[in-house]
Amino acid sequence: MLAVNLLLAGLLARAVYLLYYRLLISSLRHIPGPFISRLTRLPLTYHEYNANRRLYLHDLHKRYGPAVRIAPDEVSFATAEAAKQIYSIGGSGYEKTHFYDIFANFDGVKNMFSTIYKGEHAERRKRVADRFTKMYVMQPHIMAVVEEHVHAFVSRVGQLAAAKNSVNIYIYLHAFALDCITHYLFHPYGTHSIDGGEDMKKVEELCYYDSIRDRYTEVHFPRLHKFFDICARPFRERRGSQSGYVLNLVRETCAKSDPEESTVLYRYQTMKEDIPPLEIASEIMDQLVAGIETTGDALCFLLWHLSLPESAAIQERLRSELQQNTVTAIDDLRYLDAVVQEGLRVYGPAPMSFPRVVPNEGRVLEGYFVPAGTVVSCQAWTLHRFDTVTFPNPEAFIPERWLQEEGRLERNRLFFAFGAGGRGCIGKNLATLEMKVLLREIYSTYKTSVAPDMKGSMEISDQIVASRPKDQICLLSFEATEA
Ligand code: HEM
Repeated sequence: MLAVNLLLAGLLARAVYLLYYRLLISSLRHIPGPFISRLTRLPLTYHEYNANRRLYLHDLHKRYGPAVRIAPDEVSFATAEAAKQIYSIGGSGYEKTHFYDIFANFDGVKNMFSTIYKGEHAERRKRVADRFTKMYVMQPHIMAVVEEHVHAFVSRVGQLAAAKNSVNIYIYLHAFALDCITHYLFHPYGTHSIDGGEDMKKVEELCYYDSIRDRYTEVHFPRLHKFFDICARPFRERRGSQSGYVLNLVRETCAKSDPEESTVLYRYQTMKEDIPPLEIASEIMDQLVAGIETTGDALCFLLWHLSLPESAAIQERLRSELQQNTVTAIDDLRYLDAVVQEGLRVYGPAPMSFPRVVPNEGRVLEGYFVPAGTVVSCQAWTLHRFDTVTFPNPEAFIPERWLQEEGRLERNRLFFAFGAGGRGCIGKNLATLEMKVLLREIYSTYKTSVAPDMKGSMEISDQIVASRPKDQICLLSFEATEA
């Protein structure tokens, strides 16, 4: 009995100390935010589990300003200066948090995205960085592969349009993204999912898996998650593993000895350094997953928005630029570039916070001292909307804002769709190319509108760092135009 009483007294004393510390001692006490967030992380966790973290944080920034204490040891920021400090200064900003552990593949094998520490990450990134530069991606033989998949997409759309059917672009755009990234990573073993068949199952597996609660449990309660995972394993295997196709595709392909020389897999396999096969597979899997939903969702939101009645003038201006500049290099099409930038600003598929840890000795951010170990982050959703001088009327889709000389620097400093610094998106040049080539091909040939039978919701629905259209369906009508 005495032992129990002592234990209870100990727990009580600890709880009182924690409250006292969080409210009155912690250096974060001066940072504005809801009172409850100083005491507990529960409100934030509640919004995470309800797929509402992004909008909850955005509302807090609107109420409390550019720095908000969102949990006892976590602060969110909404300025370009804070983003620069956190993600770029001092050789790519602060270290990642253990949140990223969940992105390891094959039962915990690390990769570029999930690696926490900067030194180790830099080594991993260096291995393949030159395969993702703009110069590399824009080479004619690489562009030709993207163009081949764009033609497959447009030809599929053409068949459906000729039969007067609406097209579910959600699924075909993800198929397009899968075909592009698999060829980029390990040609000639890439998929041809737009043509249907077995490869389409990989798209379905990758796109229709709702993971948010499962993943947050993995982040906040890793032991509990592992326990449930072990318990569920026999049942999962009996009904057919949900992640079977893609994991097998990657494992089997990485074992091939003859990928084309231009591919990322070839680079890993021919490095002087001996990289264990499962580590190569984990890197390839990471890049494959990172390259599908992001590009597929970004294109889906963008095409849908361009197909709304209120976007008729934007679509017309885009078509006119494309039809008048048929031989212009893709990067010199200024309006096309502005449409893609605005699409990524308004509908960027990775709009959530990317958490980092404040280094030793602490740092001053937005005028507040933030002690070492505090979790800090920015989210693209808020950086793209909070500063209404740089982005006036931030909810409106206005590609023309990217054509103005005035404010260019400020807009670019706040553009965060691909993250920032040395841990920002390695695939951004490839993704941008895929988006531009596809849009050029579609809007040179077709007028698009939302199909009469489209009943699904295109509301933005959050996953763990990415977001996607709520109902995962987007039906458009395609009408051929005269060139
Ligand atoms: C529109 C498309 C895309 C968007 C919006 C996007 C967005 C992002 C963002 C925001 C990050 C940084 C996240 C963080 O700091 O935690 C990131 C990282 C990454 N992305 Fe992308 N991405 C896209 C396409 C791609 C593609 C096509 C690939 C293919 C290789 C790719 C591969 C990666 C990888 C490997 C990382 C981790 C980089 C590192 O840690 O060094 N992404 N992406």
